[in-house]
Amino acid sequence: MLNHQQIFFGLWLSICSGVLHADGQQLARDRNAGNCTACHYLPGTENSGNIGPEIKGISQKFPDIKQLQAFIRDPALSNPNTIMPPYGRHQILTESEIIEISQFIYRL
Ligand code: HEC
Repeated sequence: MLNHQQIFFGLWLSICSGVLHADGQQLARDRNAGNCTACHYLPGTENSGNIGPEIKGISQKFPDIKQLQAFIRDPALSNPNTIMPPYGRHQILTESEIIEISQFIYRL
């Protein structure tokens, strides 16, 4: 039998993981933050742009999540002609925002 403390702890954990999950997702969609959907399709987004490729299978493309973070910081390092903004180099996003967005899209 679960006691009240265990039930409360379980609820607390699921709320926290929900909030953490929403954060990266929200930052990716937010027009005042990542605004990634201006160019990329993210699952569940209406009216997303198609200038960049659909965000999916990311962990296969970037086997180490650190490579993904480096890409978001400065995509021009892998393609000097890219039109994707250098989110880290131009300080569009903070380091912790880049990490949260990476964690969210890494599962897609
Ligand atoms: C102005 C348009 C634009 C915006 C905004 C943008 N991207 Fe991109 N992105 C691109 C383009 C174009 C590419 C294709 C690769 C290239 O140009 O080198 C790309 C490639 C990528 C890739 C590699 C995908 C693959 O399949 O190879 C990832 C991951 C990515 N973007 C993540 C993001 C994230 C996360 C954000 C928001 C923080 C974002 N992008 C915002 C244009 C954009």
